[in-house]
Amino acid sequence: MLVNGKHYRTVWFEKDKIKMINQLVLPHKFEITELKNVSDVALAITSMVVRGAPAIGATGAYGMVLAILKGDNPEKAAEVLRGTRPTAQDLFHGIDYVLESVKNTDDSQLKHAALKAAEDYANWSVEACKSIGEHGSQVIKDGNIIATHCNAGWLATVDWGTALSPIYAAKRQDKKIEVYVDETRPRLQGANLTSWELLNEGIPHYIITDNATGYYMSKREIDLMIVGADRVARNGDFANKIGTYEKAVVAKENGIPFYVAIPSTTIDVLTENGSKIPIEERDENEVHFIGKERITPRGARAKNPAFDVTPAKFVTGIITERGIFRPEELSKVFSKK
Ligand code: MRU
Repeated sequence: MLVNGKHYRTVWFEKDKIKMINQLVLPHKFEITELKNVSDVALAITSMVVRGAPAIGATGAYGMVLAILKGDNPEKAAEVLRGTRPTAQDLFHGIDYVLESVKNTDDSQLKHAALKAAEDYANWSVEACKSIGEHGSQVIKDGNIIATHCNAGWLATVDWGTALSPIYAAKRQDKKIEVYVDETRPRLQGANLTSWELLNEGIPHYIITDNATGYYMSKREIDLMIVGADRVARNGDFANKIGTYEKAVVAKENGIPFYVAIPSTTIDVLTENGSKIPIEERDENEVHFIGKERITPRGARAKNPAFDVTPAKFVTGIITERGIFRPEELSKVFSKK
């Protein structure tokens, strides 16, 4: 991604530290955060300095490198990191990839092997997201208006994005496109992050309220919708940011194609269907407060599920690094853990 003309990844490893773009202060400040140990990494993931499934997957992989550099017990460190966010499948992939890669390595090579594995994982993720863009751009036609939800762009990945990657590829193909970005309460990833990315990429867009997507779909102002996912079950049901389910239902009602864009690290072949995906419940204060200001009456209670599950029957196609598949094709194409 280019920020003020300079190329950045969302997360990277430099001089025994993890560095990452601090997503808590965007869009008004651009700041790099440094993490020095596993506790820093766990806090950055839970507080959402870094968020988005593939980005936290790479952070988990780099977190394992820090654990090994500091001489922590790798299994214990993996447990801590796995406990940070329960829904995103990529997190478990990133951690397990490093653990598996160093399993039979002797002590003198351990640090080097761990860093190599984490770098390989992050580089693979970048290439996968780039391919998602190339495949996904085929469903975007010149003149289309595309809706998206939350942030599944470069900030949610190491680079390129998932749902936004086809949009960036379509722009490079000189297709004239517009994007409708919903705000994404309560954390406002759409309003704060997706809009900032699209401005950086020079892509025309409107921010709409979360409840306006159905209205624009019913007026046929939206041509297609592309979202990301935190976990896709074997049958193609998927978990994504809260509010995705209702948008998919309204899209189907109005005959609007609805795509999910994911790297294969988001697929959980061991989970049979969406009802088995654990859904993260976050602090109710994320609903009560916008920034420092309380918007609800004191004493009121709130519920705050971070994700919902959309059944596969609402999905037109799943855009992956290997092409676009129907949900029912997924388990055959990606059969291994
Ligand atoms: O709670 P977040 O901001 O981590 O949720 C992010 C999403 O729901 C994204 O759509 C998903 O992780 C896919 S990111 C490429």
